[in-house]
Amino acid sequence: MRLDGKVAYVTGGGQGIGRGFAHALGEAGAKVAVVDMDHTKAQAVVKELFLKGVHAIPIKADISKSDDVQRMVDTIVSKWGAIHIACNNAGINRNSASEDTSLEEWDQTFNVNLRGTFMCCQVCAGRLS
Ligand SMILES: NC(=O)c1ccc[n+]([C@@H]2O[C@H](COP(=O)([O-])OP(=O)(O)OC[C@H]3O[C@@H](n4cnc5c(N)ncnc54)[C@H](O)[C@@H]3O)[C@@H](O)[C@H]2O)c1
Repeated sequence: MRLDGKVAYVTGGGQGIGRGFAHALGEAGAKVAVVDMDHTKAQAVVKELFLKGVHAIPIKADISKSDDVQRMVDTIVSKWGAIHIACNNAGINRNSASEDTSLEEWDQTFNVNLRGTFMCCQVCAGRLS
C-alpha cells in the first residue's frame, strides 16, 4: 500500500502504538504530523522519521482541549494544504479496578479518550480531503 502525497496526523504519536502508526504511515509515503502533549517525544519521533526521508512535523497538543485541537488541524492544513488520514490514537488508561476508580479519574479518562477523540473527528471532518 502506498500513501504518497497523502497527509496524515497521529495523536499520541510520541510513543508506543502511535509512534508505530507514524512510522508505518511515513514509510508508506505519507507526510506525518506527530501530535502529542509531550512535545519532546513528538520531536524525537519526527527526527526518527527525518532519518527515513519522511516529511514530518511535531505538534504539541492536548486533545482534551478544544483550542489545541483546532490549532492542530489549522497547523496541518496551513503547512500541507489538506488532511487525508486522521489517526486518532491518543488515549489514557490508569488501569484502576472499577471499585477504585474515582470520578476524577473517570472524567480525565473520558475527557481524553471520548470527548477528545470526538473533538478531533469533528474539527477534522470539515477539512478531510
Ligand atoms: N497498549 C495496549 O495494550 C492498548 C490496548 C488497547 C488500547 N490501547 C490504546 O491505544 C492507544 C495507544 O496506546 P499506547 O499503549 O501506545 O499508549 P502510551 O501511553 O504508550 O502512549 C500514549 C501517547 O499519547 C500521549 N497522550 C496522552 N494523552 C494525550 C492527550 N490528551 N493529548 C495528546 N497526547 C496524549 C502520551 O503523551 C503518549 O505519548 C491509547 O489510546 C490506548 O488507550 C492500548
